[in-house]
Amino acid sequence: LTLSERSLAAVADFIKFGKARRIVVMTGAGISTAAGIPDFRSPETGLYANLAALNLPEPEAVFDLSFFRENPRPFYALAGELHPGTARYRPTVSHAFVALLARRRLLHMLFTQNIDCLERAAGIPPDRIVEAHGSFASQRCIDCKRVFADARMRECVARGEVPRCGGDSDHDDDAGHGTSRSGCGGLVKPDIVFFGEALPRAFFEQMDRAREADLILVMGTSLQVHPFAGLPNFAGETVPRVLFNLELVGSLGTRADDVMVLGDCDAGVRKLADELGWRDELEKTWRE
Ligand code: OAD
Repeated sequence: LTLSERSLAAVADFIKFGKARRIVVMTGAGISTAAGIPDFRSPETGLYANLAALNLPEPEAVFDLSFFRENPRPFYALAGELHPGTARYRPTVSHAFVALLARRRLLHMLFTQNIDCLERAAGIPPDRIVEAHGSFASQRCIDCKRVFADARMRECVARGEVPRCGGDSDHDDDAGHGTSRSGCGGLVKPDIVFFGEALPRAFFEQMDRAREADLILVMGTSLQVHPFAGLPNFAGETVPRVLFNLELVGSLGTRADDVMVLGDCDAGVRKLADELGWRDELEKTWRE
């Protein structure tokens, strides 16, 4: 399978003629690699191939709660790279394209698995984003669940310290947990979904948006992690599904109206923007 220019043109016509008013986008780490953030599963550049130095039993252990209890350092080494308070990554063209859809009132919902917060940075309205695997936007104690203050978190991450519940004024006073300064000493973890943990309520509350979609765009994900991986199958049988990815993934390509745009996703969305006559607007949105 290679890129079919004609199919992409057909997708553009579908949008231009007003047949796609509820576009649902599903993204993964592949849309942030152009920003300099490694994905997880790419064979040489992916995070899981490069965690050997951290002495993990297996790469996925970095997101495993029982491993985290024993040794939170590998996760915090990663957090030091990714935390929006310290990291300085810029949204990619793919993020900008989704922001453009939102600005044109065509974005029904974005489901992202990413924890880099670049969707928000790109200007996609928060009420159109479901962070299916959580994010670094908030954090709490894994034992008493008490919310831990953002400013303290940024300090700890910047200093390479593992944050613990308690100590000096480390709790948000407005977090609804009282203003007690005492903590239980438990480990603090960002509200990122670790393996075995439930997805945020918002994922289940918004899941039906995928059923309501009249066009699905899947970008930069290996669709290996459930339940997220099942989302593209919620689309009605006749709803076109477009994949922008380096490789073929999930069930994409098994339906008559699936369109595969194999290759770099930024290049793919630029081609779609060309077909739509939105290219200048896309580049402008991206540079902003
Ligand atoms: P993966 O690393 O599993 O998949 C990234 C996909 O993007 C792969 O199919 C790549 O081929 C593709 N890709 C990489 N760069 C690309 C580019 N420039 N253009 C187009 N495609 C590109 O990442 P996810 O699918 O996001 O969980 O992984 C899902 C979950 O597994 C993550 O959310 C994470 C991980 O365990 C948590 O963080 C909790």
